[in-house]
Amino acid sequence: MTDPAAHALTTSGLRVGYGGRKILNGVDLALRAGAVTAIIGPNGSGKSTLLRTLCRLLAPDEGSVAVRGRALSTLRTRDLARELSFLPQAPTAPEGMTVRELVARGRHPHQSLLRQWSRLDATAVEAALQLTGLTELADRDVQTLSGGQRQRAWIALSLAQDTGILLLDEPTTYLDIAHSVEVLDLVDHLCVDLGRTVVMVIHDLNLAARYADDLVVVHEGGIAAQGPPDAVITARLLETVFGLTARVVADPASGRPLVVPVGRRRVHRSDHPHPEETGDTHVA
Ligand SMILES: Nc1ncnc2c1ncn2[C@@H]1O[C@H](COP(=O)(O)OP(=O)(O)O)[C@@H](O)[C@H]1O
Ligand SMILES: [Mg+2]
Repeated sequence: MTDPAAHALTTSGLRVGYGGRKILNGVDLALRAGAVTAIIGPNGSGKSTLLRTLCRLLAPDEGSVAVRGRALSTLRTRDLARELSFLPQAPTAPEGMTVRELVARGRHPHQSLLRQWSRLDATAVEAALQLTGLTELADRDVQTLSGGQRQRAWIALSLAQDTGILLLDEPTTYLDIAHSVEVLDLVDHLCVDLGRTVVMVIHDLNLAARYADDLVVVHEGGIAAQGPPDAVITARLLETVFGLTARVVADPASGRPLVVPVGRRRVHRSDHPHPEETGDTHVA
């Protein structure tokens, strides 16, 4: 952490809780600028809590967060909103709002009494619609969109905000595999081609390993591991953190780690049962 500017976000000794209940108990992180970081961990481990603390929706009981080397606590709200955007886990749009109106809300931090809606704002909105493939749907009511389209509309709102850092809480939840890949390809494009920093919570370990440059594993109030997927995703970690017996193999499409849960169902072929498996596939 010698060069804070190399890191989009850093945390030091972060302790966060609700009331008296501690959820994060001393978290030190350095999230690389221009990279995709995926936050993984079991349900209820504090992933959303961490993300909300990174964007100051939650104030830590102890410790601090810095955005590009500047203490989060010292930034004015408008300045913070120009540094980072946050997409919550299950956002809901007001009734009767069109896609373009929703996306335009991303421009609020750029306006003031002196600087009203301008051509620059309109250009940013159209660019965000274009990037997310929503230009044709811009006049549709958000409520009438499919799950995948709606999620893209929320990402477009984040994009219109035009921040260097995007925090996304489970951007692929409720999406089928093809739409998940589509959203993650967009994340990849934002990072690789447009130089944005993305920090996202994601449940699917294989998609996390595929798309993230770095993983952060939240477990029991701390960070169980952080680093590149190859170093983080091990059978031992899966056992310790998720209580999952699994094999880790190389993803044939990307070479990244692929988690293969062992489970109890191990039928090799329904017509030719594997000799070792014969007998233990029957449910008594
Ligand atoms: N607003 C809240 N008030 C009280 N407890 C909360 C609140 N939000 C989350 N929690 C609790 O904090 C823990 C971590 O939640 P969360 O950060 O949402 O986990 P994750 O995103 O990893 O599933 C859970 O036990 C959850 O019940
Ligand atoms: Mg969550």
